[in-house]
Amino acid sequence: MTTLPDAPPVGWSNALRDRRDRRLPRIAGPSGLVVFGVTGDLSRKKLMPAVYDLANRGLLPPGFTLVGFARRDWADEDFAQVVHDAVREHARTPFHEEVWHQLAEGMRFIPGDFDDDTAFKQLKAAVEELDHSRGTAGNHAFYLSVPPRFFPKVVRQLKKHGLADAPEGSWRRAVIEKPFGHDLRSAEELNRVVHDVFEPDQVFRIDHYLGKETVQNILALRFANEMYEPVWNRSYVDHVQITMAEDIGIGGRAGYYDGIGAARDVVQNHLLQLMALTAMEEPIAFDAESLLTEKLKVLKSVRVPRNPGEHTVLAQYAEGWQGGEKVAGYLQEEGIDAQSRTDTYAAIRLEVDNRRWAGVPFYLRTGKRLGRRVTEIAVVLKRAPHSPFDATATEELGENAVVIRVQPDEGMTVRFGSKVPGTSMEIRDVSMDFAYGESFTESSPEAYERLILDVLLGDANLFPRHQEVEESWKILDPIEEYWARHGRPAQYAAGSWGPVEADEMLARDGRSWRRP
Ligand code: BG6
Repeated sequence: MTTLPDAPPVGWSNALRDRRDRRLPRIAGPSGLVVFGVTGDLSRKKLMPAVYDLANRGLLPPGFTLVGFARRDWADEDFAQVVHDAVREHARTPFHEEVWHQLAEGMRFIPGDFDDDTAFKQLKAAVEELDHSRGTAGNHAFYLSVPPRFFPKVVRQLKKHGLADAPEGSWRRAVIEKPFGHDLRSAEELNRVVHDVFEPDQVFRIDHYLGKETVQNILALRFANEMYEPVWNRSYVDHVQITMAEDIGIGGRAGYYDGIGAARDVVQNHLLQLMALTAMEEPIAFDAESLLTEKLKVLKSVRVPRNPGEHTVLAQYAEGWQGGEKVAGYLQEEGIDAQSRTDTYAAIRLEVDNRRWAGVPFYLRTGKRLGRRVTEIAVVLKRAPHSPFDATATEELGENAVVIRVQPDEGMTVRFGSKVPGTSMEIRDVSMDFAYGESFTESSPEAYERLILDVLLGDANLFPRHQEVEESWKILDPIEEYWARHGRPAQYAAGSWGPVEADEMLARDGRSWRRP
């Protein structure tokens, strides 16, 4: 249940009261969060700071509780100190002693591993004690920030110890981090195990891209305006390019990344979700069910490349230069097997077999150690069917494009041709820009803040359902299988924009990649 702040003053007209109500902040009701894998990087850099930022923005209930579970010999105070350090280092909002103090009072730590029945009994006792001392009212979310091989064990333990069953009038939810499986078979198995314990509407799968403000704006842009939808189809769109480029390498994540690679790490989830939001039909309402229905239709309509050798490229970064410094190739990274065939770059050409998109390629690419960090969706339009200007006038005119800049320079660009000032007719590309920072004074919450709040509110709009996860694997599996049989990934120099094979893939279609 959402607790609302004070009612508007008496005497307000109904219309005003309604308007104000709609803009009231969404505040979580009595609840707590239990985090498994609380000593991991994600927890330290994202989850703990997000919890603090939510508290600081006044969006958590006063008695909110945070319980850590991990194999460490810590007391509650040690855990609170770890959270404190993480917050001081990574939180986005200023540190306030009173907010921290109130939050820290609701922190508990349970030492143990996932086989340990005693630890789960302690967890149950702690949760019940918090219901009384902090008023969490039986409402608890269990966040599995652990490697997927532990998911089955943790959810079974939650069931065994009665933690998955909500007492009358309260709720229990499970939050699961990606990767959701390694392929379709393992994802189905995982979903079976999770759904054995939790009902589908109790399960929140995190794809943090959906928590990004700019990603949510794709739907606002498309469906709250009249401007874009009329051209958002095969009659006007030439192709779509979705890029998620990173300049970082794999950092200390060799253990997770090697054997997984870019396609599984990013295409299967983030990029296919971006594609689904870009291509889907208008949902009948902005709710989880309607969004699922439309995204699923897109994913099911994706035509899997018949010849992955021609329509997909997997590659690995080799030694190169970035920011004036020499950087090592993937195979030289610490913890990586010198023979590893893991892809750090993936480019995939897909088509959506439906009336709106028939014949329009969607090019998806992602990679580590590329030229710069940028995520964008570029909807590139066809050229005007006829030009009254002579050919020299339009020599420098490119294609019109609508570019949603997901990050880091959040906003949108519309590119079109304009007459160059002067005495002759010459037309050149110009851009019209919308930048969040210039148009809004409100700051965007970090993706994890938004998603954790939504879990506590039980709002599932921004969480992929298991059907989407499985459909996404159906798209990726044949590509992974093909490349597993066909030798080593291609190579690209660190700091470049990817392998030449990816350029050739677009060149075969008479197109080229954007250089964002
Ligand atoms: C994660 C991937 O899901 O997204 C990482 O596992 C990647 O490999 C990260 O670096 C990128 O997220 P963001 O929000 O920094 O673009």
